[in-house]
Amino acid sequence: MNRRVGILISGRGSNLQAIIDAISEKRLDAKIAVVISNRADAPGLDRARRAGIEALYLDHRPYPSRADYDKAVVAELRTRDLRLVCLAGFMRLLGSEFLEAFPNAILNVHPSLLPAFPGLDAQHQAWEYGVKVAGATVHFVTADLDGGPIVLQAAVDVRDDDTAEALADRILIEEHRIYPQAIGIILDGGWRIEGRTVQISPCR
Ligand code: GRF
Repeated sequence: MNRRVGILISGRGSNLQAIIDAISEKRLDAKIAVVISNRADAPGLDRARRAGIEALYLDHRPYPSRADYDKAVVAELRTRDLRLVCLAGFMRLLGSEFLEAFPNAILNVHPSLLPAFPGLDAQHQAWEYGVKVAGATVHFVTADLDGGPIVLQAAVDVRDDDTAEALADRILIEEHRIYPQAIGIILDGGWRIEGRTVQISPCR
């Protein structure tokens, strides 16, 4: 069974690193076929190269439209026979052509308990709102921003003396735990999407 994944990043790449580590520690059976960043200075590119993974920089700026950039990324991904595309801090919205190229095969990790706090700086949004429980979500990517069917979530208690940064650090630990786990679940198969719900087979 094909267990090849492509990972899209724009920055730090700590989730990418968590996936690399899970694979090398055999907690995740997958092969990262390529990492693509839309930013040349993304530290995640070096993380990939250090792990011997092909790392491409594909600048979005020369492309006249999002659709044109998406087409270029999709073309790179398609030649690598991927089963799954994972967004890991990729700071660009995907257009319909991208979504249609990989139906039910694009995952994202988001630093909140969706549907609460979609969009940017979710940890800070949650902290400012005064929630008592924050968290992380891995979900399928659809046209609805941070709104696709949920694969896994993890909760993080908010402490009275928290800062937004301390909370974000604890959420990140959970992201690193559940993202590789969710990728494994999706690659294993036996799941289905019913309405908004990802039904993960009970025989796993
Ligand atoms: C993470 O908080 C992730 O949830 C969000 O972007 C951030 C990326 O961090 N989508 P990193 O590049 O994986 O370190």
